[in-house]
Amino acid sequence: AVLTPTPSSAISLTRYLIEEQRAGRINADLRLLIEVVARACKSISIAVGKGALGGVLGDAGTGNIQGEAQKKLDVLSNEILLEANAWGGHLAGLASEEMDTSHPIPDVYPRGNYLLLFDPLDGSSNIDVNISVGTIFSVLRAPDGVSRAEDKDFLQAGTEQVCAGYTTYGPSTMLVLTIGHGTHAFTLDREVGSFVLTTRDMRIPDDTKEFAVNMSNQRHWQPPMQRYVADLLAGQEGPRGKDFNMRWVASMVADVHRILTRGGIFSYPLDAKCADKGGKLRLMYEANPMAMLVEQAGGAASTGRQRMLEVQPTGLHQRVPVFLGSKHEVETAVRYHHEFD
Ligand code: AHG
Ligand code: MN
Ligand code: MN
Ligand code: MN
Repeated sequence: AVLTPTPSSAISLTRYLIEEQRAGRINADLRLLIEVVARACKSISIAVGKGALGGVLGDAGTGNIQGEAQKKLDVLSNEILLEANAWGGHLAGLASEEMDTSHPIPDVYPRGNYLLLFDPLDGSSNIDVNISVGTIFSVLRAPDGVSRAEDKDFLQAGTEQVCAGYTTYGPSTMLVLTIGHGTHAFTLDREVGSFVLTTRDMRIPDDTKEFAVNMSNQRHWQPPMQRYVADLLAGQEGPRGKDFNMRWVASMVADVHRILTRGGIFSYPLDAKCADKGGKLRLMYEANPMAMLVEQAGGAASTGRQRMLEVQPTGLHQRVPVFLGSKHEVETAVRYHHEFD
């Protein structure tokens, strides 16, 4: 048969997490947290999958702290993640791209030691055109003695993340996860309703011939980026000595998923339009979790001048320039930046 059922020997997310707990790499609370996030992402996956039939497409008619118009699915996904994580007793606080400030755990519930940050729906501009979107999340520890976290408690460098992941709602729904011991991909078995380990230890090739950038911003870029991309486009005859292909989904989750699968470099550099904000993408909800996933798969992630995971955050909604993916290519992009310093 072409369609084979998931074999009983398959490793579910639940089994993977229990085995990691037995190996001493996570505790019961972090295991619960990941299970809860995965369950919430299944609900989001169902809502996304209904499309127009679920009445979930289009604008919510509200705005967020980022200065963006919210889509109905931005708001719904945020609510699903909040509700799922409120009562489990594993968190000291939550923060989201869609909320002005961090969100305390309601007093009626017990609190735990972890902080959860998320981009509930990444790639909002693609929702209404039925292109892959996703959810990105990052987990930090609450500082010692803090059970009711405030914004400042979240301002930890990406190296402090204990877990990071995303789900991509595409032709299949996948969860890609790291707890600091490799990056692993799980595919949602829709009939059974569970995530099944489908790629253990994703590896990003060191070299690549594929780049991802929004080329329409070219005239707004700074000189290092202008020079770097000009050399990529010069192809075989240029200083790089090889032809490059380009892809830009405009859902970071989908672009990063491609890079984790077959290599490449993803960039959202500083440009004249976003320079006053420090960049376009958010450090805490987008850049840091993706940087951890990419590094755990053997790739690299940088602002162009500094290792992403070492950036000391100054604000919950802080933005940064982003370069991530195949190690040698990211190193090359960073070299172009240093040559202009
Ligand atoms: P979000 O939908 O969570 O606000 O994020 C959108 C981000 C990211 O997913 C993507 O890489 C980038 O914005 C696309 O930007 P452009 O529209 O400038 O291409
Ligand atoms: Mn947004
Ligand atoms: Mn996003
Ligand atoms: Mn978003």
